[in-house]
Formats: sequence, structure tokens, C-alpha cells
Amino acid sequence: MADSPDARAIGDARPTGDTQPRGFATRAIRAAHRLPRVDQAPTSVPIYQTVTFTSADAEELGAVTTGEIPGYSYGRLANPTVAAFASAVAELEGAAAGFAFGSGMAAIHAALGALVSAGDRIVATRSSYGTTRSQLVGVFGRLGVTVDFIDITDLATVEAALAASPTRVLYAETISNPTIVVADHPALAELAHRHGAIYVVDNTFASPYLCRPIELGADLVCESATKYLAGHSDVMAGVVVGSTALVQRVRDFEVDTGGALDPHAAFLAMRGLSTLALRMERHTATAAALAAWLAVQPEVTRVWHPALPSHPQHAIASRQLDRSGGMLAFEIAGGRAAGEAFIDALTIPERTASLGSVFTIVAHPPSTTHRQLDDAALAAAGITPGLLRCSVGLEDLDDLVADFERALGAAIEAGSGGDASRDADRAPGTRDAATAVEPTPV
Ligand SMILES: Cc1ncc(COP(=O)(O)O)c(C=O)c1O
Repeated sequence: MADSPDARAIGDARPTGDTQPRGFATRAIRAAHRLPRVDQAPTSVPIYQTVTFTSADAEELGAVTTGEIPGYSYGRLANPTVAAFASAVAELEGAAAGFAFGSGMAAIHAALGALVSAGDRIVATRSSYGTTRSQLVGVFGRLGVTVDFIDITDLATVEAALAASPTRVLYAETISNPTIVVADHPALAELAHRHGAIYVVDNTFASPYLCRPIELGADLVCESATKYLAGHSDVMAGVVVGSTALVQRVRDFEVDTGGALDPHAAFLAMRGLSTLALRMERHTATAAALAAWLAVQPEVTRVWHPALPSHPQHAIASRQLDRSGGMLAFEIAGGRAAGEAFIDALTIPERTASLGSVFTIVAHPPSTTHRQLDDAALAAAGITPGLLRCSVGLEDLDDLVADFERALGAAIEAGSGGDASRDADRAPGTRDAATAVEPTPV
């Protein structure tokens, strides 16, 4: 068939002119792996759903595989869709390079694994994601890395810990999981560098829309793209960004240990990036309003959201975060029973784990993400039995407030053994009206 304008649209049998007599199986495999010719660039990055890439000859294949020349040979080493996603995140994070992984934990594992060896020391925030803590202790600790957990909001403690013994990595989260502790990146980076340590940051709760730790002195940033970057709870991915030299080491570690991101997942995560700004604006506005409402409820003993002036690191958040974000935590009276009853009474938020999605998710860390910690470890991580963590979604604020109000009633009932009820004399939100806090935009 001639190369007429619609020849490619309707399917051109044997466009390569291969007329050799072949068996059906051979023909089927060759026909099904023939690449379409595309002269007009697609507007979306194509999903290169392939593990293998062909080279012109053995020499080229060897050179690509060993990295002597740029190119693609095997999916665990590199894939165009995955690389496009990693470089998009690197650009948004203000970093020179990035490499993507099959999950946030794989990204953290590779970032740290590329930096430490047996005998090295990591100083990490005590208020980190529970599985990060498990990885630090159960994977790196078991392999001979010393891990010390400290309060990174106390810079004197950080300085003393770094001075006490040589440290390879100082590890923090921009906004910590679950207690919304905000790390002072410029100060921590300066301390780390003064003591010869590499400053590694988990930026998952913030996303680059709120904060770009590399611009504030961090050396490597890890992120679970499963959360805000992808944004819809339907794809699992992670990414590490930083200088080209450090990211190259992280990539080399991944080549040896696995953890590569699937191209289809990379495509989905990349689609999320396009709406990150819009989603983060809405997450922030709703979360700040919900936090202010929660702060004046009689059943709520404490609220943590960076926009609240009562937040311990409100001043740092105001300097460092472009917006205050969609994550908040609050503590309700009545302990563990009240926390569980609150979750069970909600009708809009799903009872599920994760965060950073279009829908609101309320978690009770003592019974979910931090279940592996005993009471002492929970307390050391700043987690009380009645602590609830909320990832505020994109729903209407009024619906969320009404749902939370109902659930608070159920929680106080459960927490008091059933003989307490919400104060019927007071309209919701009026008890502490005199001390009500208004969110300050950060
Ligand atoms: C702060 C933080 N970092 C890393 C992770 C791990 O990400 P993933 O579940 O994509 O492995 C999570 C997961 O909840 C998280 O909250």
C-alpha cells in the first residue's frame, strides 16, 4: 500500500516489506512488536510499556547497558516514560536530576542505601512516618548502621547529636507524619553540612508546590509520589531528586537492588502533576478552615495545622511553606476508644490508609500506621492515644464539617463510656470563641 495520508490510520500490513516466508508464530511476534511511525509528536508522554529496547548492534547494546553512551536497554536501568516523570519532578523541586521508584519506601531505601555503609550513622527525626522508622531500624540498623532519633525542632539537640559522633546522614520530613512537625530546612542543612553530614528530606506531605527543600539547602529529597504528586490513590510511586552526582549514585543502587517504577504508573503519576497546583490550593483552603473549626470544638483538645498560629512551628512554616497544605492532626478527649469511634462514625472520609488524595482520609495512627510501636515508642514519637490524622480532600467544606461534627458526638460518647454527650446548649464552634484561632495564610 502506498504511504497515503490515511495509510497509518487504517493499518498498513508489512510496512517494512519483510516478505520472507515465516511460520505463524514468528509472524505474529514480529507483527505485534513492530513500532508505529509517528511524525507528529504526541502531547502526552507515551507509555513505553516495554522492558527491553533494541540496539543497532552488540557494541551499542553493551555501551548503553554499561552507561558509556546514553540510551535504553532494560527497564530496571531506565525507561523513557519513567525518566520523563522523574525529570518533571526534579524540575518542580528545583533539583538538577531525579530518579523514580516503584514506591516511596523504595525511594527512601535507595536514597539512604546509596549513602551509608555498615558502621555509618544516621541521625533522624523522631517524628517520621512509621514505616520509615521501621526501615531505618529494621533494615539499616540490622545491617550495621547506627540510627539515632532526635527532636529536630530543637536545634541545640540536633547540634549536640551531630557533634557527639560522626554522622553520614541527617534525615527529616518537611511536614512530619503524623504530627505535622515542620522542619527548619535552612537551619538543619547548615548544621548537617557543618558536621560533614548529608541532609536528606522526605517532602511527601508538602509536595514541591508547598516547599522545595533543595532550594533551602537539602542534598537529596525523597517523596512518595503515591500521595499528592499522583493525587488520586490509584498509583504507587516514589522519586528521589538532588544533584546529578548524588542521583547517579541513587540510580546505581536501584539498578542493583530493584524497585524500578512501572511505565504505566509513571504515566499516571505524571498526569497528576498537571493538576498539583489546583489540588494543593483547594486542599490547603479546606484544611485551614477545617483546622480553625476543629480548634474551637469542645471535644477537641488540640489541633496541629501549619496555618494555625498555635502550631509550634507556625513561624517556620510561614517562612518556608508557600501554602500550609492539606494535612492536619487533632487530638480528641477520650483516648483510643474515642479515636476509633470517631473514625467509625464518619460517613464521607473513607476508612483507609494513605493521604494526599482527592478524597478525605482520616487515620488513627495508634491503630494503623504506627501500630507497630508500643506505648513508650508512640509517646517518644509525640503520638497520643486520641490522635487523629486527616488528609483533607477536595470535597465541600460544609459537608466535611457536618460529618466531623456528627463523628465528634459519637467519639465523646465512646470515650466517656457512653454517659457523656455533646453540649446541647452550645452551637458548634462557640465554646472557645474568644480564643478561636484564625488561619494565617502560609
Ligand atoms: C511521609 C511518607 N513518606 C513515605 C511514605 C511511603 O510511601 P509509599 O507508600 O509510596 O511507599 C509514606 C506513606 O504513607 C509517607 O507518609
